[in-house]
Amino acid sequence: MTGHDHIALDDQARAILRGNDRGGYTVPTAGLYPYQWNWDSAFAAWGFAQFDIGRAWDEMDTLFSGQWPNGMVPHILFHQPDPGYFPGPDVWGANLGPIPSSGITQPPVAATFIRDIWEKDRTAGADRLDALLPKIIAWHRWFMEWRCCAHGTVFVTHPWEAGRDNCPDWDSAMAAIVPEGVGEYTRRDTSHVDPDMRPTKADYDRYIWLVQRGRRLGWDDEAMAENMPFRVGDPTMSFIFLRANRDLLAMCEAFGHDCCELRGWIKILEQSAEVLRNPDTGFFNGVNTLTKEHTGALSNASYLCWYAGIDDAPMGKILEQTFSECPYPVPSHAIAAQDFDPKRYWRGPTWAIMNALIGRGLEDMGHTDHARQLKQATGDLIASHGFAEYFDPLTGEAAGGGTFTWTAAVWLAWASPSAGKYNG
Ligand code: SER
Repeated sequence: MTGHDHIALDDQARAILRGNDRGGYTVPTAGLYPYQWNWDSAFAAWGFAQFDIGRAWDEMDTLFSGQWPNGMVPHILFHQPDPGYFPGPDVWGANLGPIPSSGITQPPVAATFIRDIWEKDRTAGADRLDALLPKIIAWHRWFMEWRCCAHGTVFVTHPWEAGRDNCPDWDSAMAAIVPEGVGEYTRRDTSHVDPDMRPTKADYDRYIWLVQRGRRLGWDDEAMAENMPFRVGDPTMSFIFLRANRDLLAMCEAFGHDCCELRGWIKILEQSAEVLRNPDTGFFNGVNTLTKEHTGALSNASYLCWYAGIDDAPMGKILEQTFSECPYPVPSHAIAAQDFDPKRYWRGPTWAIMNALIGRGLEDMGHTDHARQLKQATGDLIASHGFAEYFDPLTGEAAGGGTFTWTAAVWLAWASPSAGKYNG
Protein backbone atom coordinates (compact mmCIF):
# COMPACT_ATOMS: atom_id res chain seq x y z
CA MET A 1 0.00 0.00 0.00
CA THR A 2 1.72 3.12 -1.18
CA GLY A 3 1.13 6.61 0.13
CA HIS A 4 -1.46 5.65 2.74
CA ASP A 5 -1.15 5.50 6.50
CA HIS A 6 -2.63 2.07 7.02
CA ILE A 7 -2.29 2.23 10.80
CA ALA A 8 -4.55 5.32 10.80
CA LEU A 9 -6.96 3.48 8.50
CA ASP A 10 -6.99 0.50 10.90
CA ASP A 11 -7.97 2.94 13.68
CA GLN A 12 -10.73 4.43 11.52
CA ALA A 13 -12.08 0.98 10.68
CA ARG A 14 -12.19 -0.05 14.34
CA ALA A 15 -13.93 3.25 15.18
CA ILE A 16 -16.58 2.52 12.51
CA LEU A 17 -17.30 -0.90 14.01
CA ARG A 18 -17.51 0.59 17.51
CA GLY A 19 -19.63 3.49 16.25
CA ASN A 20 -22.12 1.17 14.52
CA ASP A 21 -22.29 -1.13 17.56
CA ARG A 22 -25.77 -1.01 19.12
CA GLY A 23 -24.95 -3.39 21.96
CA GLY A 24 -24.49 -7.02 20.88
CA TYR A 25 -25.22 -6.28 17.25
CA THR A 26 -23.90 -3.88 14.63
CA VAL A 27 -25.94 -1.82 12.15
CA PRO A 28 -24.55 -1.72 8.58
CA THR A 29 -24.60 2.09 8.74
CA ALA A 30 -26.65 4.58 10.77
CA GLY A 31 -29.74 5.96 9.02
CA LEU A 32 -29.91 3.91 5.83
CA TYR A 33 -29.82 0.50 7.57
CA PRO A 34 -30.71 0.88 11.27
CA TYR A 35 -31.18 -2.82 12.18
CA GLN A 36 -29.19 -6.05 12.28
CA TRP A 37 -28.73 -7.50 8.80
CA ASN A 38 -27.75 -11.16 8.56
CA TRP A 39 -24.71 -11.22 6.29
CA ASP A 40 -23.58 -7.71 7.27
CA SER A 41 -23.51 -8.96 10.83
CA ALA A 42 -21.33 -11.97 9.96
CA PHE A 43 -18.87 -9.65 8.21
CA ALA A 44 -18.94 -7.40 11.29
CA ALA A 45 -18.02 -10.38 13.47
CA TRP A 46 -15.08 -11.15 11.17
CA GLY A 47 -13.94 -7.53 11.62
CA PHE A 48 -14.42 -7.52 15.41
CA ALA A 49 -12.46 -10.78 15.67
CA GLN A 50 -9.35 -8.81 14.64
CA PHE A 51 -9.38 -6.79 17.87
CA ASP A 52 -12.16 -7.96 20.22
CA ILE A 53 -12.91 -11.63 19.88
CA GLY A 54 -15.54 -11.66 22.66
CA ARG A 55 -17.50 -8.99 20.79
CA ALA A 56 -17.24 -11.09 17.61
CA TRP A 57 -18.88 -14.05 19.35
CA ASP A 58 -21.58 -11.75 20.81
CA GLU A 59 -22.45 -10.58 17.30
CA MET A 60 -23.09 -14.14 16.17
CA ASP A 61 -25.01 -15.05 19.33
CA THR A 62 -27.32 -12.09 18.75
CA LEU A 63 -27.85 -13.05 15.11
CA PHE A 64 -28.81 -16.62 16.02
CA SER A 65 -31.04 -15.39 18.86
CA GLY A 66 -33.45 -14.39 16.09
CA GLN A 67 -33.56 -17.88 14.54
CA TRP A 68 -37.06 -19.14 13.75
CA PRO A 69 -38.29 -22.51 15.06
CA ASN A 70 -38.02 -23.90 11.49
CA GLY A 71 -34.27 -23.12 11.49
CA MET A 72 -34.38 -20.04 9.23
CA VAL A 73 -32.21 -17.12 10.31
CA PRO A 74 -33.90 -13.92 9.07
CA HIS A 75 -32.25 -11.34 6.87
CA ILE A 76 -33.20 -8.46 9.19
CA LEU A 77 -33.75 -8.49 12.96
CA PHE A 78 -35.75 -5.43 14.03
CA HIS A 79 -34.36 -5.08 17.56
CA GLN A 80 -35.52 -1.47 18.10
CA PRO A 81 -38.27 0.40 16.22
CA ASP A 82 -36.90 2.93 13.71
CA PRO A 83 -39.24 5.00 11.55
CA GLY A 84 -36.30 5.92 9.27
CA TYR A 85 -36.44 2.53 7.52
CA PHE A 86 -39.02 1.04 5.18
CA PRO A 87 -40.34 -1.68 5.11
CA GLY A 88 -40.40 -2.23 8.88
CA PRO A 89 -41.80 -5.13 10.91
CA ASP A 90 -45.42 -3.97 10.48
CA VAL A 91 -45.11 -4.40 6.69
CA TRP A 92 -43.39 -7.78 6.90
CA GLY A 93 -45.88 -9.22 9.41
CA ALA A 94 -43.44 -12.08 9.95
CA ASN A 95 -44.06 -12.97 13.57
CA LEU A 96 -42.69 -16.49 13.55
CA GLY A 97 -39.50 -15.92 15.51
CA PRO A 98 -38.45 -14.70 18.95
CA ILE A 99 -37.50 -11.21 17.63
CA PRO A 100 -39.49 -9.10 15.11
CA SER A 101 -37.90 -9.85 11.74
CA SER A 102 -38.22 -10.03 7.99
CA GLY A 103 -39.58 -13.28 6.51
CA ILE A 104 -36.64 -14.26 4.28
CA THR A 105 -33.00 -15.16 4.85
CA GLN A 106 -29.67 -13.97 3.40
CA PRO A 107 -26.43 -15.54 2.09
CA PRO A 108 -25.10 -17.86 4.82
CA VAL A 109 -21.57 -16.53 5.20
CA ALA A 110 -21.88 -16.95 8.99
CA ALA A 111 -20.43 -20.49 9.26
CA THR A 112 -17.27 -19.44 7.42
CA PHE A 113 -16.65 -16.38 9.59
CA ILE A 114 -17.55 -18.30 12.74
CA ARG A 115 -14.85 -20.79 11.78
CA ASP A 116 -12.39 -17.91 11.32
CA ILE A 117 -13.24 -16.54 14.77
CA TRP A 118 -12.88 -19.97 16.35
CA GLU A 119 -9.56 -20.64 14.57
CA LYS A 120 -8.15 -17.43 16.08
CA ASP A 121 -8.47 -18.92 19.56
CA ARG A 122 -9.88 -22.43 19.69
CA THR A 123 -9.73 -22.69 23.46
CA ALA A 124 -11.51 -19.42 24.17
CA GLY A 125 -14.11 -20.15 21.49
CA ALA A 126 -14.86 -23.78 22.37
CA ASP A 127 -17.98 -23.17 24.48
CA ARG A 128 -19.29 -20.39 22.23
CA LEU A 129 -18.97 -22.60 19.15
CA ASP A 130 -20.39 -25.66 20.89
CA ALA A 131 -23.56 -23.66 21.60
CA LEU A 132 -23.78 -22.27 18.06
CA LEU A 133 -23.12 -25.44 16.05
CA PRO A 134 -26.62 -27.00 16.39
CA LYS A 135 -28.14 -23.65 15.37
CA ILE A 136 -25.97 -23.39 12.26
CA ILE A 137 -26.80 -26.99 11.35
CA ALA A 138 -30.53 -26.26 11.75
CA TRP A 139 -30.26 -23.22 9.48
CA HIS A 140 -28.36 -25.15 6.81
CA ARG A 141 -30.87 -28.00 7.03
CA TRP A 142 -33.62 -25.45 6.40
CA PHE A 143 -31.74 -24.28 3.28
CA MET A 144 -31.49 -27.86 2.00
CA GLU A 145 -35.20 -28.42 2.57
CA TRP A 146 -36.67 -25.11 1.36
CA ARG A 147 -34.18 -23.29 -0.86
CA CYS A 148 -32.49 -26.11 -2.72
CA CYS A 149 -33.66 -27.39 -6.13
CA ALA A 150 -33.62 -31.13 -6.84
CA HIS A 151 -30.31 -30.69 -8.67
CA GLY A 152 -28.78 -28.74 -5.78
CA THR A 153 -28.84 -25.10 -6.92
CA VAL A 154 -29.85 -22.76 -4.11
CA PHE A 155 -32.57 -20.34 -5.16
CA VAL A 156 -33.93 -17.10 -3.71
CA THR A 157 -37.58 -16.16 -3.28
CA HIS A 158 -36.93 -12.41 -3.18
CA PRO A 159 -34.06 -10.28 -4.57
CA TRP A 160 -33.36 -9.14 -0.99
CA GLU A 161 -32.71 -12.75 -0.01
CA ALA A 162 -29.59 -12.81 -2.21
CA GLY A 163 -28.43 -9.48 -0.81
CA ARG A 164 -27.89 -8.28 -4.41
CA ASP A 165 -31.18 -6.41 -4.65
CA ASN A 166 -31.24 -5.00 -8.18
CA CYS A 167 -28.66 -7.14 -9.96
CA PRO A 168 -29.42 -8.20 -13.54
CA ASP A 169 -29.74 -11.86 -12.49
CA TRP A 170 -33.31 -11.09 -11.43
CA ASP A 171 -34.42 -9.09 -14.45
CA SER A 172 -36.49 -11.72 -16.27
CA ALA A 173 -38.14 -12.99 -13.08
CA MET A 174 -38.88 -9.42 -11.98
CA ALA A 175 -40.32 -8.51 -15.39
CA ALA A 176 -42.79 -11.38 -15.10
CA ILE A 177 -44.29 -9.85 -11.92
CA VAL A 178 -47.13 -7.37 -12.37
CA PRO A 179 -47.13 -5.47 -9.07
CA GLU A 180 -50.88 -4.86 -9.03
CA GLY A 181 -52.45 -3.68 -5.79
CA VAL A 182 -49.19 -2.86 -4.12
CA GLY A 183 -50.68 0.45 -2.94
CA GLU A 184 -49.02 3.66 -1.82
CA TYR A 185 -45.85 3.56 0.23
CA THR A 186 -43.00 5.89 1.06
CA ARG A 187 -39.47 4.77 0.47
CA ARG A 188 -36.92 5.85 3.07
CA ASP A 189 -33.70 4.74 1.38
CA THR A 190 -33.82 7.59 -1.15
CA SER A 191 -33.97 10.16 1.65
CA HIS A 192 -30.63 8.83 2.98
CA VAL A 193 -28.68 8.45 -0.31
CA ASP A 194 -28.82 9.70 -3.90
CA PRO A 195 -31.74 7.95 -5.68
CA ASP A 196 -29.46 7.34 -8.69
CA MET A 197 -27.46 4.97 -6.49
CA ARG A 198 -30.50 2.95 -5.46
CA PRO A 199 -32.98 0.55 -7.14
CA THR A 200 -35.71 2.09 -9.30
CA LYS A 201 -39.40 2.51 -8.39
CA ALA A 202 -40.26 -0.39 -10.72
CA ASP A 203 -37.89 -2.59 -8.67
CA TYR A 204 -39.30 -1.35 -5.36
CA ASP A 205 -42.92 -1.97 -6.38
CA ARG A 206 -41.98 -5.59 -7.01
CA TYR A 207 -39.95 -5.92 -3.80
CA ILE A 208 -42.94 -4.74 -1.79
CA TRP A 209 -45.38 -6.82 -3.83
CA LEU A 210 -43.31 -9.93 -3.02
CA VAL A 211 -43.25 -9.02 0.68
CA GLN A 212 -47.05 -8.62 0.63
CA ARG A 213 -47.36 -12.03 -1.09
CA GLY A 214 -45.14 -13.69 1.54
CA ARG A 215 -47.14 -12.07 4.29
CA ARG A 216 -50.43 -13.36 2.82
CA LEU A 217 -48.89 -16.84 2.77
CA GLY A 218 -48.02 -16.44 6.46
CA TRP A 219 -44.33 -16.93 5.56
CA ASP A 220 -45.15 -20.63 5.64
CA ASP A 221 -42.44 -22.65 3.89
CA GLU A 222 -44.81 -25.06 2.18
CA ALA A 223 -47.18 -22.35 0.99
CA MET A 224 -44.22 -20.27 -0.22
CA ALA A 225 -42.81 -23.23 -2.14
CA GLU A 226 -46.08 -23.51 -4.06
CA ASN A 227 -46.98 -19.86 -4.46
CA MET A 228 -43.95 -17.62 -4.74
CA PRO A 229 -43.58 -16.45 -8.34
CA PHE A 230 -39.94 -15.51 -7.85
CA ARG A 231 -37.49 -18.43 -7.62
CA VAL A 232 -34.09 -17.78 -9.15
CA GLY A 233 -31.15 -20.17 -8.77
CA ASP A 234 -28.43 -17.88 -7.51
CA PRO A 235 -24.64 -18.11 -7.73
CA THR A 236 -24.27 -16.01 -4.54
CA MET A 237 -26.36 -18.40 -2.47
CA SER A 238 -25.18 -21.58 -4.16
CA PHE A 239 -21.44 -20.90 -3.89
CA ILE A 240 -21.59 -19.30 -0.44
CA PHE A 241 -23.72 -22.14 0.92
CA LEU A 242 -21.36 -24.79 -0.46
CA ARG A 243 -18.39 -23.04 1.14
CA ALA A 244 -20.28 -22.60 4.41
CA ASN A 245 -20.98 -26.32 4.54
CA ARG A 246 -17.32 -27.14 4.06
CA ASP A 247 -16.44 -24.89 7.01
CA LEU A 248 -19.30 -26.31 9.05
CA LEU A 249 -17.99 -29.82 8.32
CA ALA A 250 -14.50 -28.90 9.59
CA MET A 251 -16.00 -27.58 12.83
CA CYS A 252 -18.38 -30.51 13.29
CA GLU A 253 -15.55 -32.99 12.75
CA ALA A 254 -13.45 -31.21 15.39
CA PHE A 255 -16.38 -31.45 17.83
CA GLY A 256 -16.97 -35.15 17.10
CA HIS A 257 -20.42 -34.71 15.51
CA ASP A 258 -21.81 -37.34 13.15
CA CYS A 259 -21.17 -35.70 9.77
CA CYS A 260 -22.94 -38.06 7.32
CA GLU A 261 -25.81 -35.68 6.58
CA LEU A 262 -23.43 -32.75 6.07
CA ARG A 263 -21.20 -34.72 3.69
CA GLY A 264 -24.32 -35.61 1.70
CA TRP A 265 -25.26 -31.92 1.36
CA ILE A 266 -21.78 -31.05 0.13
CA LYS A 267 -21.95 -33.75 -2.52
CA ILE A 268 -25.31 -32.50 -3.80
CA LEU A 269 -24.12 -28.89 -3.88
CA GLU A 270 -20.86 -29.77 -5.64
CA GLN A 271 -22.76 -31.53 -8.39
CA SER A 272 -25.03 -28.55 -8.93
CA ALA A 273 -22.43 -25.94 -9.90
CA GLU A 274 -22.56 -26.83 -13.60
CA VAL A 275 -26.28 -26.04 -13.67
CA LEU A 276 -25.34 -22.39 -13.15
CA ARG A 277 -22.99 -22.31 -16.14
CA ASN A 278 -24.39 -20.37 -19.06
CA PRO A 279 -23.98 -22.67 -22.10
CA ASP A 280 -23.49 -19.72 -24.48
CA THR A 281 -20.96 -17.68 -22.53
CA GLY A 282 -19.22 -20.19 -20.24
CA PHE A 283 -19.65 -18.13 -17.08
CA PHE A 284 -21.77 -18.86 -14.01
CA ASN A 285 -25.01 -16.91 -13.78
CA GLY A 286 -28.48 -17.06 -12.25
CA VAL A 287 -31.09 -19.51 -13.57
CA ASN A 288 -34.78 -18.74 -13.39
CA THR A 289 -36.06 -22.04 -11.99
CA LEU A 290 -39.60 -21.38 -13.24
CA THR A 291 -38.62 -20.91 -16.91
CA LYS A 292 -35.18 -22.67 -16.82
CA GLU A 293 -33.72 -19.58 -18.53
CA HIS A 294 -30.14 -18.53 -17.86
CA THR A 295 -30.08 -14.86 -16.93
CA GLY A 296 -26.98 -14.10 -19.02
CA ALA A 297 -25.51 -11.72 -16.43
CA LEU A 298 -21.79 -11.78 -15.63
CA SER A 299 -21.84 -10.45 -12.06
CA ASN A 300 -19.36 -10.43 -9.20
CA ALA A 301 -21.20 -13.51 -7.87
CA SER A 302 -20.06 -15.40 -10.99
CA TYR A 303 -16.52 -15.35 -9.55
CA LEU A 304 -17.46 -17.00 -6.25
CA CYS A 305 -16.71 -20.47 -7.68
CA TRP A 306 -13.22 -20.57 -6.09
CA TYR A 307 -14.67 -19.52 -2.74
CA ALA A 308 -16.89 -22.60 -3.05
CA GLY A 309 -13.82 -24.78 -3.67
CA ILE A 310 -14.47 -25.15 -7.41
CA ASP A 311 -11.47 -24.41 -9.61
CA ASP A 312 -12.56 -23.21 -13.02
CA ALA A 313 -10.30 -22.37 -15.97
CA PRO A 314 -12.97 -20.55 -18.06
CA MET A 315 -13.78 -18.25 -15.12
CA GLY A 316 -10.04 -17.66 -14.63
CA LYS A 317 -9.78 -16.29 -18.19
CA ILE A 318 -12.86 -14.13 -17.72
CA LEU A 319 -11.40 -12.76 -14.47
CA GLU A 320 -8.17 -11.82 -16.24
CA GLN A 321 -10.15 -9.97 -18.86
CA THR A 322 -12.14 -8.15 -16.18
CA PHE A 323 -8.91 -7.16 -14.42
CA SER A 324 -7.57 -5.73 -17.66
CA GLU A 325 -10.75 -3.86 -18.64
CA CYS A 326 -12.04 -2.53 -15.33
CA PRO A 327 -10.04 0.15 -13.46
CA TYR A 328 -11.51 -0.81 -10.06
CA PRO A 329 -12.61 -4.45 -10.19
CA VAL A 330 -14.72 -6.52 -9.59
CA PRO A 331 -17.84 -4.85 -11.02
CA SER A 332 -21.24 -6.23 -10.00
CA HIS A 333 -22.30 -6.10 -13.67
CA ALA A 334 -19.91 -6.40 -16.61
CA ILE A 335 -18.81 -2.94 -17.74
CA ALA A 336 -19.37 -3.95 -21.38
CA ALA A 337 -23.04 -4.77 -20.70
CA GLN A 338 -25.51 -2.41 -22.34
CA ASP A 339 -27.33 -1.68 -19.09
CA PHE A 340 -24.20 -1.35 -16.91
CA ASP A 341 -24.70 1.53 -14.46
CA PRO A 342 -21.56 2.42 -12.46
CA LYS A 343 -23.36 3.95 -9.45
CA ARG A 344 -26.61 1.99 -9.16
CA TYR A 345 -26.12 -0.50 -6.33
CA TRP A 346 -25.75 -4.03 -7.81
CA ARG A 347 -25.91 -3.00 -11.49
CA GLY A 348 -22.25 -2.04 -11.82
CA PRO A 349 -20.57 -0.90 -8.58
CA THR A 350 -17.68 -2.75 -6.98
CA TRP A 351 -18.31 -4.15 -3.51
CA ALA A 352 -15.41 -4.74 -1.11
CA ILE A 353 -17.24 -7.65 0.54
CA MET A 354 -17.60 -9.54 -2.73
CA ASN A 355 -13.94 -8.86 -3.52
CA ALA A 356 -12.98 -10.32 -0.14
CA LEU A 357 -14.93 -13.52 -0.80
CA ILE A 358 -13.58 -13.83 -4.34
CA GLY A 359 -10.05 -13.09 -3.11
CA ARG A 360 -10.23 -15.66 -0.33
CA GLY A 361 -11.40 -18.24 -2.84
CA LEU A 362 -8.57 -17.44 -5.25
CA GLU A 363 -6.06 -17.71 -2.43
CA ASP A 364 -7.47 -21.01 -1.16
CA MET A 365 -7.30 -22.51 -4.66
CA GLY A 366 -3.68 -21.48 -5.15
CA HIS A 367 -4.24 -18.53 -7.52
CA THR A 368 -1.99 -16.40 -5.41
CA ASP A 369 -1.13 -13.74 -8.00
CA HIS A 370 -4.74 -12.98 -8.76
CA ALA A 371 -5.58 -13.10 -5.06
CA ARG A 372 -2.82 -10.61 -4.28
CA GLN A 373 -3.83 -8.35 -7.15
CA LEU A 374 -7.45 -8.22 -5.98
CA LYS A 375 -6.53 -7.64 -2.35
CA GLN A 376 -4.16 -4.81 -3.31
CA ALA A 377 -6.76 -3.21 -5.60
CA THR A 378 -9.44 -3.40 -2.88
CA GLY A 379 -7.10 -2.01 -0.23
CA ASP A 380 -6.14 0.91 -2.47
CA LEU A 381 -9.78 1.56 -3.28
CA ILE A 382 -10.77 1.78 0.39
CA ALA A 383 -7.64 3.75 1.35
CA SER A 384 -8.29 6.32 -1.41
CA HIS A 385 -12.08 6.58 -1.30
CA GLY A 386 -13.13 5.63 2.22
CA PHE A 387 -15.25 3.02 3.95
CA ALA A 388 -18.15 3.30 1.53
CA GLU A 389 -20.94 0.81 0.95
CA TYR A 390 -19.77 0.34 -2.67
CA PHE A 391 -17.63 2.06 -5.31
CA ASP A 392 -17.86 3.22 -8.91
CA PRO A 393 -15.79 0.62 -10.84
CA LEU A 394 -14.70 3.18 -13.47
CA THR A 395 -13.59 6.05 -11.19
CA GLY A 396 -13.34 4.43 -7.74
CA GLU A 397 -15.70 7.07 -6.31
CA ALA A 398 -17.52 6.20 -3.09
CA ALA A 399 -21.24 5.40 -3.48
CA GLY A 400 -24.22 4.44 -1.32
CA GLY A 401 -23.93 4.72 2.46
CA GLY A 402 -20.75 5.88 4.22
CA THR A 403 -18.93 4.67 7.38
CA PHE A 404 -19.99 1.20 6.40
CA THR A 405 -19.55 -1.71 8.80
CA TRP A 406 -18.73 -4.43 6.31
CA THR A 407 -16.24 -2.34 4.36
CA ALA A 408 -14.47 -1.53 7.64
CA ALA A 409 -14.53 -5.23 8.55
CA VAL A 410 -13.12 -6.29 5.19
CA TRP A 411 -10.35 -3.74 5.61
CA LEU A 412 -9.39 -5.00 9.07
CA ALA A 413 -9.68 -8.71 8.38
CA TRP A 414 -8.38 -8.89 4.81
CA ALA A 415 -7.37 -5.79 2.85
CA SER A 416 -5.23 -3.88 5.37
CA PRO A 417 -1.50 -4.65 5.33
CA SER A 418 -1.91 -5.44 9.04
CA ALA A 419 -4.84 -7.85 8.50
CA GLY A 420 -4.47 -11.02 10.52
CA LYS A 421 -1.51 -9.65 12.48
CA TYR A 422 -3.42 -8.71 15.66
CA ASN A 423 -5.54 -10.88 17.85
CA GLY A 424 -8.69 -9.99 19.67
N1 SER B 1 -31.09 -4.22 0.92
C1 SER B 1 -32.45 -3.94 1.25
C2 SER B 1 -32.63 -2.51 1.54
O1 SER B 1 -31.99 -1.74 0.88
C3 SER B 1 -33.04 -4.83 2.26
O2 SER B 1 -32.25 -5.90 2.62
O3 SER B 1 -33.37 -2.11 2.37
